Amino acid sequence: MIPPVAGFVMEGRRSRNRKSAKRRRAQSSERNRDAKKSKSEPSSSSFLEKMKARLSGGHFRMINEKLYTCTGEEALNYFKEDPSLFNMYHAGYQAQMSQWPEQPVHKIIEWLQVHSPSLTVADFGCGDARVAKSVKNKVFSFDLVSNDPDVIAGDMSNTRLDSSSVDVAIFCLSLMGLNYPNYLKEAHRVLKPSGWLLIAEVKSRLDPKTGGADPNKFIKAVCELGFTPVSKDFTNKMFVLFHFTKQEKPISKRKEIAWPELKPCIYKRR
Ligand SMILES: C[S@@+](CC[C@H](N)C(=O)[O-])C[C@H]1O[C@@H](n2cnc3c(N)ncnc32)[C@H](O)[C@@H]1O
Repeated sequence: MIPPVAGFVMEGRRSRNRKSAKRRRAQSSERNRDAKKSKSEPSSSSFLEKMKARLSGGHFRMINEKLYTCTGEEALNYFKEDPSLFNMYHAGYQAQMSQWPEQPVHKIIEWLQVHSPSLTVADFGCGDARVAKSVKNKVFSFDLVSNDPDVIAGDMSNTRLDSSSVDVAIFCLSLMGLNYPNYLKEAHRVLKPSGWLLIAEVKSRLDPKTGGADPNKFIKAVCELGFTPVSKDFTNKMFVLFHFTKQEKPISKRKEIAWPELKPCIYKRR
């Protein structure tokens, strides 16, 4: 075996020490660089999440606009062609609602909870049937698509309920179709005399300051259909709430009702 040369061994260790110190410095500066990068740039997974959220927000706004610019029958056919669009719409709708300081559906549930549970209710455009799930009353829940055995699928301008059979008709942000007067006519048909009509609508649709309809013209038209106004609440920032009762006697001479146009509610990008 060749004996190690003292000078060579000494020189080799020093050079190895210098090399490993250099390697440690390089590794540490690489770690620092990575740490700075992860603080300033989003990781690829959070970037993907952001893109997915943007995409589903875009889909929601597109479906929402469609529902406000077609008739109930067209909306029914739209969802029949692709029922998954309904879930996409409702995911986006719930995301929007979570930003509202108060949800109108909660006001309606509160109203029902302080009235007799024996009142029979028809929820027109019920969405996820929150009303039916929150009260003791018998509730008929209608929407374009049914993902729940308690929801009756179809166009709410024809509920197939018996005439004069329910005590309360609810429209919570659901006067969406261009033919919205037909939904109110159907509510008038199925309500018992003196029955309640509760309407919550997006405030901007009934606020002339933001290009919406004149709320008094809307109230007048509902009265001409055969209702008496009981209360109107404009105190909420996001929605208006009306209570009417069905007149006892049918209107004898029915004249043409001047229904105001209700503009679509366009949700902002978040
Ligand atoms: C804005 S969402 C409100 C849902 C629920 N009322 C709430 O407050 O959470 C309106 C609902 O009305 C339904 N809708 C709109 N037009 C309809 C029609 N012609 N027949 C049945 N449902 C309708 C939509 O499918 C949607 O689920």
